[in-house]
Amino acid sequence: MKPIKVGLLGIGTVGSGTFNVLKRNQEEITRRAGRRIEITMVADLNTARAKELTNGECEVVSDANMVVNNPEIDIVIELIGGYGIAKDLVMKAIANGKHVVTANKALLATHGNEIFKAAQDKGVMVAFEAAVAGGIPIIKALREGLTANRIQWIAGIINGTTNFILSEMRDKGLDFDVVLKEAQRLGYAEADPTFDIEGVDAAHKATIMSAIAFGLPVQFDKAHVEGITKLQATDIRYAEQLGYRIKLLGIARRTPNGIELRVHPTLIPAKRLIANVEGAMNAVLVQGDAVGATLYYGKGAGSEPTASAVIADLVDITRLATADPEHRVPHLAFQPDAMVDTPILPMSEVTTSYYLRMRVADQPGVLADVTRILADSSISIDAMLQKEPDEGETRTDIIMLTHQTQEKNIVSAIAKIEALSTVVGEVTKIRLEQLS
Ligand code: HSE
Repeated sequence: MKPIKVGLLGIGTVGSGTFNVLKRNQEEITRRAGRRIEITMVADLNTARAKELTNGECEVVSDANMVVNNPEIDIVIELIGGYGIAKDLVMKAIANGKHVVTANKALLATHGNEIFKAAQDKGVMVAFEAAVAGGIPIIKALREGLTANRIQWIAGIINGTTNFILSEMRDKGLDFDVVLKEAQRLGYAEADPTFDIEGVDAAHKATIMSAIAFGLPVQFDKAHVEGITKLQATDIRYAEQLGYRIKLLGIARRTPNGIELRVHPTLIPAKRLIANVEGAMNAVLVQGDAVGATLYYGKGAGSEPTASAVIADLVDITRLATADPEHRVPHLAFQPDAMVDTPILPMSEVTTSYYLRMRVADQPGVLADVTRILADSSISIDAMLQKEPDEGETRTDIIMLTHQTQEKNIVSAIAKIEALSTVVGEVTKIRLEQLS
């Protein structure tokens, strides 16, 4: 059978990994795919570097349009990133009848519905295993391996940069700003780390997983997005004393009223496997009604780990390219006419537990006032920690863990607590999930 021809848009870290792994494992990949997969054309603005990386083994151009318009190309791999030119090129490739492989989570989380619709109409595939958790085959697991299940929830550590920072903050007792600088120096964090540290990257990935898990359109605009920039080393320490770790989790949960879709720092019991995922590693925990809990762990970024996911998509497409479009695996796991419009819940209606830290005057009645406010809001306290004030200090920290309640209840209770004359400054609130 004649080789399937691939055009690569962008030969940076992941692109060069894809080129190298495909070449190194060509024989085995061909035995799996049933025909050779050849990158015959590469588009990159830095053509000199692209030529060097590809050793003259394929055509190198600076204009990506030459790839998406080339009738010889069967599959386009988009590794440019962002929503601008990348969207344009993906839409053109689809319009030209090409299958697309992309690692672009931002693009799919924001424009996925339009892209999948165009692909569906044209009868081509858009594959995106590399868009979520790098080398971990979580898309495949959700879309195919767990297809028997009614997925109940997903909770993932899906951003390596923030997990690295949180691990360092815990290990070394350092504050966020100090660790971020160190992470940038070591190359673990980007020069502009905004998308990572503000939770946006994780929210893109959680959005994509929520669509596949529940058969919904992608709705990034409805996700609650909160990063780790305000997290203090003090809270990591107190959480530890209570038997918890703090992780940036991407959560998608089915509830009777709608879907929770949220990214925020979260306390999780230290004894859970996922709580022990350290450094830049990723992990996704999925709860299905039949299978129970399954955990997927691995590298969420990097040249060859991400290439592993890109090439898995190339092989899938190669195997399915000749199948009738209606016999292929649907982009978002559910048949396009079987998608549902279950609402994504506003954050005020999300139900979870909370860690609260407040600085209070060490005098009679303070604790009683605080617990009265919580009781009046039907918020039950699960655990409590109060430090002895430091020598010569008249104020101290009170830390409370609550049982589950709706976010709107805790928000109004916190406003009342902050209004007490004995409470100093703001109450720190971090959500807590048992993940059991
Ligand atoms: N920047 C991401 C991370 C990897 O730190 O995990 C690509 O999404």
